[in-house]
Amino acid sequence: MQIHVYQNEAEIARAAAALFASLIIKKPDAVIGLATGSTPISTYQELIRLYKDKVVDYARVTSFNLDEYVGLPPTHTQSYRAFMQEQLFDHINIQDTHVPSGIAKDLAAECKRYDQAIVDRGGIDLQLLGIGHNGHIGFNEPNDVFVYNTNVVDLTESTIQANKRNFDSEDQVPRTAVSMGIGSIMQARAIVLIALGKGKAEAIKRTIKGEIDPQMPASILRCHHNVTVLLDKEAASLL
Ligand code: PGA
Repeated sequence: MQIHVYQNEAEIARAAAALFASLIIKKPDAVIGLATGSTPISTYQELIRLYKDKVVDYARVTSFNLDEYVGLPPTHTQSYRAFMQEQLFDHINIQDTHVPSGIAKDLAAECKRYDQAIVDRGGIDLQLLGIGHNGHIGFNEPNDVFVYNTNVVDLTESTIQANKRNFDSEDQVPRTAVSMGIGSIMQARAIVLIALGKGKAEAIKRTIKGEIDPQMPASILRCHHNVTVLLDKEAASLL
């Protein structure tokens, strides 16, 4: 695990975007794994800038997102598909983008289809991750076991509380989501995890210094050979 601490979010965004840019310049048909939430927004702004400045061409890139709320159609403003269109895809020339369907009639089949689609495209070269206050990655919540495959997850109260800020009221926050599993994430050839702010400091401390434990899902990343962790000073404050 390589851990880098930066002065501010702008520096982190530039560092994260540079990792994606160098991959795509070397491998124009790269497969990238993307995340939602507030953390990656500044990185996406930097990836857009690199496109507008003609540094990076996304025409042959494929992307897979980590997760989607069950029950929200892609047209719903709080769906993760809508988030990705608004924050990144609508501003660059990427064509082949994948977000799990939260409205598939057979969600178990959708999970299998999603894992197979990743395999069919040769696996993920570089996966971007945020981290939940409870240590979740994707929507893999604290659990008794690490769940390997893409699966339907019951969101914990802490996640519902953290995400209600994006909805009109708490009861509108979906209670379940489709999430790439820990195995799909760990199979990525490289991973970059970003954490911003004091609220993430405890999860970062337990991820980096605590036991490798499914109750702290991000701790599994210590078993991956190529993980870069980008932290601001607040998120690194308990290390
Ligand atoms: P955030 O969410 O970026 O909005 O803090 C991260 C996560 O829950 O994985």
